[in-house]
Amino acid sequence: MSRTAALHAISTEIPSRPARAAHAGPATIAEISSGLLAERAATSPKYLYDSLGSKLFEAICELPEYYPTRTEASIFEQYGGEIAQAVGTGSTLIDLGAGNCAKAASLFPLLHPAQYVPVDISRDFLTEAVHGLQQRFPHIEMTALGLDFSRSFHLPASVRPARRVFFYPGSSIGNFAPHEAISFLRRMRANEQGDGGLLIGVDLIKDGAVLDAAYDDAIGVTAAFNLNMLRHLNHLIGADFDVTQWRHRAFFNAEESRVEMHLEAREALVVGWQGYERHFGRGERIHTEDSYKYTRRGFIDLLQEAGFAATRTWTDDAEWFAVIHAKAIGD
Ligand code: TRP
Repeated sequence: MSRTAALHAISTEIPSRPARAAHAGPATIAEISSGLLAERAATSPKYLYDSLGSKLFEAICELPEYYPTRTEASIFEQYGGEIAQAVGTGSTLIDLGAGNCAKAASLFPLLHPAQYVPVDISRDFLTEAVHGLQQRFPHIEMTALGLDFSRSFHLPASVRPARRVFFYPGSSIGNFAPHEAISFLRRMRANEQGDGGLLIGVDLIKDGAVLDAAYDDAIGVTAAFNLNMLRHLNHLIGADFDVTQWRHRAFFNAEESRVEMHLEAREALVVGWQGYERHFGRGERIHTEDSYKYTRRGFIDLLQEAGFAATRTWTDDAEWFAVIHAKAIGD
């Protein structure tokens, strides 16, 4: 063998994909792997929220195009008194997907909860937020839970059983398919004694161009947020995603009444992790999230199927967003 041929032989033997360390446990690796290997690749949206992802989502909420957060906040501001009256004071406020806890905190002066239970998968982010909050509101008992409530809904004994009010703002319920949303709401129903309730934010169906812009903003913050999931996956499962090979895609699918978020391969490529490999053709996508949009009536019907009766609905003037208070239907 000539010298150059020998070198060539050696270089092809050098593994092109050095094994990278995974930081997630076997259950998470299995879950992510099966999603990435499916014919239509998909990942759970919860992987959007590592520490950088949570910060990017905070930035999204400040974008002019992303109306949900602002619109919901304006409803809380305008109708805070009525909302507090519907919810009542002295409750155990369980904040699902609390993030920086700012939304719930802005309601504390009205709701006066006895206990505040922020729940978020991004534990470090949460711990930091609660630390500051406890100093501002020393009278409210605070129990931060760093758990994945999409997987398990087990509330520890430190969460008071009486007057549990589930707070689920931001239209995160829209990130479940309707049948999943119903079972998720049923689990909330099963975790309260019938004396609590639900305060939930729901994004309403509106002009498609408004929706498209909300999920694909001009300066690319939403693109960064979606693409960051690939960095997070590299960390979690030791994958070798090259972020520059991907682009953010988001659009309103009117037939399904949902905004779809995808990551699209800019070129043909191969991704490897943990001995697995997946080829993506140019234009092929990983489906990262859906955001379902409802009519008021449609969502109230869905609540009813889950065992909740809406007591009040508040919306903004344009009816872009709704905040709904519901109580358990007696069994
Ligand atoms: N829960 C948010 C929503 O559906 C999350 C979100 C906003 C999002 N922009 C996104 C998720 C872009 C993926 C990509 O409104």
